Amino acid sequence: MIPVTTMQGARLLRYGTPADMPVQEVELPALQPGQVLIRMAYASINPSDLAFLSGQYGIKKKLPAVPGFEGSGTVVAYGGGWSRFLVGRRVACASSSGDGTWAQYMVADAKGCIPLRRSVSLEQGSSLIVNPMTAVAMYNIFEKGRHGALIQTAAASALGGMIRKLAAVNGRPVINIVRRDEQVNTLEEQGAQYVLNSTAPDFERKLAVLARKLQATMAVDAVGGALTQQLVGCMPAFSTVLVYGGLSGEACALSPGLLIFKEAQIRGFWLSLWLQKQSALSLMRLGWSVQKHLAGELKTEVRRIYPLAEIHAAIEDYSRQMSGGKVLINCNP
Ligand SMILES: NC(=O)c1ccc[n+]([C@@H]2O[C@H](COP(=O)([O-])OP(=O)(O)OC[C@H]3O[C@@H](n4cnc5c(N)ncnc54)[C@H](OP(=O)(O)O)[C@@H]3O)[C@@H](O)[C@H]2O)c1
Repeated sequence: MIPVTTMQGARLLRYGTPADMPVQEVELPALQPGQVLIRMAYASINPSDLAFLSGQYGIKKKLPAVPGFEGSGTVVAYGGGWSRFLVGRRVACASSSGDGTWAQYMVADAKGCIPLRRSVSLEQGSSLIVNPMTAVAMYNIFEKGRHGALIQTAAASALGGMIRKLAAVNGRPVINIVRRDEQVNTLEEQGAQYVLNSTAPDFERKLAVLARKLQATMAVDAVGGALTQQLVGCMPAFSTVLVYGGLSGEACALSPGLLIFKEAQIRGFWLSLWLQKQSALSLMRLGWSVQKHLAGELKTEVRRIYPLAEIHAAIEDYSRQMSGGKVLINCNP
């Protein structure tokens, strides 16, 4: 039995601009077996959400639709079957189809809901999946590859901070690439040993020296554009670049000569596909272990929380200043 039939939600009417996204009344669909209804607490805003709004993301939904890929809340109803045990539980949730998390309620697949440990707040729980799981998955790829060091671009991001902390715990060196001097200072104050500004005139020379010295043969790149080619050019032969974001909005530049004469490998990483390859048991273990580290290595700093009604101000604030903490949406203020 659904306790409500309508809700307030941000509704994207057209891809291209968040201006075409009023907060309005939305009808809730009937629950199917295996689905639960979540009363949303908080929802995150990530670069993937911005890419979705502009129609540039790997997932396109039939519009109008409620955006928002992840959040947290309390399960208030279920559609039958085993999902009954989730009723009353606080969960982290994600949406890849149907209406998303920027609303008062969300219908979700029970299988994709992660019950929150008592020690995890709903604020932290709203950013449990996208960045922490990606950081863990990519860091594990790095560890398995026997690389001397890891290079990461957009290193002042929330995810960059997680990777840096995972590496620090394991005593592994990371070369952090940012795009502003303030970010260099911030990361150094946080204890990062190697931080380079990609806009500095001697950037490539410094990166090549460090990459050779530390044998940094793997990079994770969230920027793309010219930076991807700069990475390959500065890294030792037989290096791998994992492209997992396109923050520059530009195609990855790559000269065939560099690929050939360095036998470099460029590959993509997308959490959605990576999750599909994991067994139910390993996903459960991952969800549990990520939560254990949510107050430490995998902590998301929250800069500001906006009520759902102010979603446009929230998106503008986040887009203007992405470094220095996440902006969350309070779905039921
Ligand atoms: N493939 C996957 O499965 C997956 C999963 C999760 C996240 N991601 C990606 O991971 C990246 C980081 O996400 P996040 O949530 O951690 O980000 P975030 O905390 O919102 O921070 C974004 C960072 O990127 C920097 N940035 C923005 N545009 C840039 C550009 N053109 N060149 C260089 N740096 C730029 C920002 O610096 P300023 O402050 O200077 O703007 C900021 O430090 C994003 O690209 C996201 O899409 C991918």
